[in-house]
Amino acid sequence: MGYFITFEGGEGTGKTTIINYISKYLNDKGYSVVTTREPGGIDIAEQIRNIILDVKNTKMDYRTEALLYAASRTQHLAEKVIPALKENKIVLCDRYLDSSLVYQGIARGLGVDNVLKVNMFATEYMPNITFFIDVKPEICFKRLKDNHREMDRLDLEKMDFHNKVYEGYREIAKMYPNRIVSIDGDRRIEDIIEDIKMRIDKLLGE
Ligand code: TYD
Repeated sequence: MGYFITFEGGEGTGKTTIINYISKYLNDKGYSVVTTREPGGIDIAEQIRNIILDVKNTKMDYRTEALLYAASRTQHLAEKVIPALKENKIVLCDRYLDSSLVYQGIARGLGVDNVLKVNMFATEYMPNITFFIDVKPEICFKRLKDNHREMDRLDLEKMDFHNKVYEGYREIAKMYPNRIVSIDGDRRIEDIIEDIKMRIDKLLGE
């Protein structure tokens, strides 16, 4: 089996940039790497995701949202993640189950235990390691504004929601101290990458 590595954090924490650097690092070392994000270009998962993020769907019940994320996760796992792990690849995934625990369980208030239950049915694989990129919401928002990135429905939620997400990640990181590593993301990218490389090398036994 390969290694399943996930990256978590609020919007604008730099996950995508970090994943690109780490992917190149591991590729250069000769590992076979798959980078993905939910829904990961899987057609069925993509269709589910479109329903979740559609700005017209203001009537969506929070439980519906949690179930749809879980459904999309299952499909992405089945079609992309599990086959890659079976081929001994390293899978780097931008967001996974912890996003649901934090966004739906804590920020939406559905309860971590409830969302975990749904996801235990949806999800066969827990990551070998998860990096929580810890950046305060005020800093993330400033970054997003500076980049003029287009905002989706969840991005537009009030600042209060993003603060809940941030606190939620810190809570979940404490719940899984052996799996989740908090990385101070308010530093130079080089320093952040060094930190993560070191932890991954250790995981790979190097
Ligand atoms: P995405 O477009 O991947 O945004 P980002 O670039 O910030 O990662 O994700 C869209 C939104 O979906 C984001 O606000 C987080 C949210 N989300 C959940 O609420 N629950 C989940 O299980 C996942 C995977 C994402």
